[in-house]
Amino acid sequence: MNTPSATPTTAPASPSRPGPADHADLKARAAAVLAANWRTAFTVPSAQLYPFQWLWDSGFIALGWSWLDLGRARLEIKTLLQAQWANGFLPHIIYHDDSAAKSYFPGSDFQGTDGLPGAPGYVSTSGITQPPVLGFVLEMLYEREADPAAHHAFYEGAVRQTVKFHQYLYRDRDPRGEGLVYIRHNWESGTDNSAVWDAIWATHEPPAYDVRRRDTSHVNEAMRPTKKDYNHYLYLIDLSKQVGYDEAKMQEILPFLVQDPLFNAILIAANDSLARLAELLGLSAEAAQARAWSARTAAALNAKLWDEELGLYGYYDLRGERFLPSVSAPGIAPLFAGAAVPPARAARLRDTLLSPAFTGPAGAGYLCPSLAYTDPAFDRRRYWRGPVWLNVNWLIYRGLLKHDFPEAAARVRADSVELVRQHGFYEYFDPVREVGAGEGGFGGEQFSWTAALLLDMLREEEVVGNRS
Ligand code: GLC
Repeated sequence: MNTPSATPTTAPASPSRPGPADHADLKARAAAVLAANWRTAFTVPSAQLYPFQWLWDSGFIALGWSWLDLGRARLEIKTLLQAQWANGFLPHIIYHDDSAAKSYFPGSDFQGTDGLPGAPGYVSTSGITQPPVLGFVLEMLYEREADPAAHHAFYEGAVRQTVKFHQYLYRDRDPRGEGLVYIRHNWESGTDNSAVWDAIWATHEPPAYDVRRRDTSHVNEAMRPTKKDYNHYLYLIDLSKQVGYDEAKMQEILPFLVQDPLFNAILIAANDSLARLAELLGLSAEAAQARAWSARTAAALNAKLWDEELGLYGYYDLRGERFLPSVSAPGIAPLFAGAAVPPARAARLRDTLLSPAFTGPAGAGYLCPSLAYTDPAFDRRRYWRGPVWLNVNWLIYRGLLKHDFPEAAARVRADSVELVRQHGFYEYFDPVREVGAGEGGFGGEQFSWTAALLLDMLREEEVVGNRS
């Protein structure tokens, strides 16, 4: 379990940075964001930009709710798991609002999963997934319960369903039984337009889709993926639809099959949490299974994705049979996989994080930009090609704590707090510190996971009181 002892008692010491006691206003504002985005039984990531339920968003959001109302945290996860497909697959979008789903892009019509055998039926969903955060989210919620026994049935059901999801990943996404699972769409990474995909996009020409994107009608185009890149994203969905989302056929035809370090590191951490939680709940077969998965994925991550030269983890393109090096935040985030990362590599990751590639030419930028300043594709305002994202910061922060690097963790935490204090609860942020207050926040405003994870960082040191 993640015990409170793993948390540094010496949080941000710098006198120029506010201490935990000063954040009452931020905590209240974070709670207000979550309350405004709550919709009966789940939370939208952002009211305008993302008006449905997203997989990894929901996991992070539940962590925020756990400090305010554990009932809502449980319900968030329950609603998510209700949309599980018969084969164990969990979709990345659940289109709860049917009428909005038709006008949104890409909406449920474009995803084309309605009526597929095994799809939930009562609600439309996408046919791609997202990083498997649920295992560790469930463990953290359970630890925060005042009376966990009272919610045994919920946790038992959720653990079984999450194990079923992992079973699907290992069965259908690991063709060579390596222990590493692949993603078959860039949106499955959660880091939509990462520069690392450029090498894959260069291998084929997608058709030009004549669509009205929703994101660019809400947000400045310069801060979103380009039109050309978007054609690639839609093409992958198109191809998947043509084979009825049949996993074996998609494996044969899709030009995009990637072993992603962030996805697999999250899977390791989720397996570790599932193993501990299943044990506590008396599910010993599930616990043994999750432990075995974790060990295999940890070994494969280190054998195949570690980049000794660059000092972080990279990607493997299964279709092109090549390693894809990348100096980007997802390569550092495997710190979150805890003991799966050997101590010498963890120290290397910390040093890479604190190098000018990520702290900026003058060393004073906000951690952690999604792409290194040194990458030719670096663009401090464009989505996953430079800006800081709070969920990645949270993973790196926790990862640094797991490896006992309290000073580096305190910097990531302080930078996260500062970004929100300076600019507001945005979806992503300019890593450059000199930007004026209010000018460095991009994408959706009042963004749920920014609120949830900031709250989590601010509340973690407090004593958990009695709650529902
Ligand atoms: C964007 C992000 C993705 C997130 C979604 C909803 O597509 O890249 O990670 O899940 O928005 O917030």
